[in-house]
Amino acid sequence: MTPELTRFGEEMSHLTGVRAIMKDIIETLQAGQGQQFINLSAGNPVILPEIEQLWRDCTQDLLASSEYGNVVCRYGTSQGYEPLIAAIKDDFNQRYGLELSDRHILITPGSQALYFLAANAFGGYHTNGRMKDIVLPLSPDYTGYGGISLVPEAVRAYRPTIAVDEAAHRFRYRPDFSQLSITADTGFVLFSRPCNPSGNVISAEDVRSIADLAAVHHVPVLVDSAYAPPYPALNFTEMEPVFGDNILHCMSLSKAGLPGERLGIAIGDPAIINVLECFQTNFCIHSSRYGQAIAARAIASGELARLAEQVIRPYYQDKFAVLAAALDRALPQSLPWYLHNGEGAIFAWLWFDRLPITDQELYQRLKQRGVIVVPGNPFFPGLRPEQGEPWPHTRQCLRLSLTASHADLTTAAQHLGALVAEVYQTQAVPA
Ligand SMILES: Cc1ncc(COP(=O)(O)O)c(C=O)c1O
Repeated sequence: MTPELTRFGEEMSHLTGVRAIMKDIIETLQAGQGQQFINLSAGNPVILPEIEQLWRDCTQDLLASSEYGNVVCRYGTSQGYEPLIAAIKDDFNQRYGLELSDRHILITPGSQALYFLAANAFGGYHTNGRMKDIVLPLSPDYTGYGGISLVPEAVRAYRPTIAVDEAAHRFRYRPDFSQLSITADTGFVLFSRPCNPSGNVISAEDVRSIADLAAVHHVPVLVDSAYAPPYPALNFTEMEPVFGDNILHCMSLSKAGLPGERLGIAIGDPAIINVLECFQTNFCIHSSRYGQAIAARAIASGELARLAEQVIRPYYQDKFAVLAAALDRALPQSLPWYLHNGEGAIFAWLWFDRLPITDQELYQRLKQRGVIVVPGNPFFPGLRPEQGEPWPHTRQCLRLSLTASHADLTTAAQHLGALVAEVYQTQAVPA
């Protein structure tokens, strides 16, 4: 049976961005029986023994408590499990000198769901018929933003400025304030900090500038802190969360070892929280209470923040250093390749300037050599042709996951180096 779909049904029944690539990757892995692939595509965090143990201990504590039935066998409030909200409120008030009340916090089933709620509450067509954009101020950014709006044309991304250190083969993005437009037609602003895919951490000063531009028009700014301190603390450079009247600080416990439990957290103005909470009640009632109950214990005891700093961050920071050194050895010095500064998250982001083939072809050819990465193009959702000529950069990047072993990262860099040398040598390099 082929049911007739609505406009929204059409939109939501396609896989967007990296999810479409992932399908190809899974098929490759399944079809390649016998062939050993080095898989640098994963977004799934590594199961770190200390972190798994933390969640086991919290589960044991929950099982032994009289609360168990109340947590697992009953519905709760849509805003979230009260002890988790209290634990987050106390931790943030103490850590950052805030004055949060319970009404400043909302728990969602993962942060992707939180962005979906925000995208469709604040972006798209308003009651007066006006279209309000979802502004991504620094492209590339998280590929999942491409699928959050029922009105995809609402997503509008802006090209960044690029600072290149040619000799070191490194580069870094920054929001381009000369292009960025936040107006009365903006629904909300959204960016990840640290950023998936590039590992960029937008400076606190730039976050405040964006928030100030948005405040003029009462526009919320959602800072996707899926990799930020205090948990999972996947920042390799100094950074602090930025708070403000129109800033919604959005977190995820996925990279702190709980991706399966689906836990997102929004912290901000109670008026914004209330809109999202009502939307959530209509949509799915609430997040898993088991996940919320073990998270409440890990946050209240301080163990999650401690292990994030002492175990999660060093694990990935070390992987980045190993991969960066391997790339420096394996990629030809004479070619215009650049690695984005590793400021955070769990990926390395490579740019091959004037690449003679597309990122998709590079991905396919690397796959033939047994290495699976993610082509960069899906990480540019919301860029429009009318914002200038097609931007070649969107077809010149690759994302490499830091979840593989040291040996695999080193071997992958060698294969990539050999392939890239061949590609630039045998194919015409664009001017
Ligand atoms: C930047 C960013 N935001 C949001 C998400 C979604 O995370 P979740 O829905 O598991 O909280 C991810 C997942 O990888 C991400 O990388």
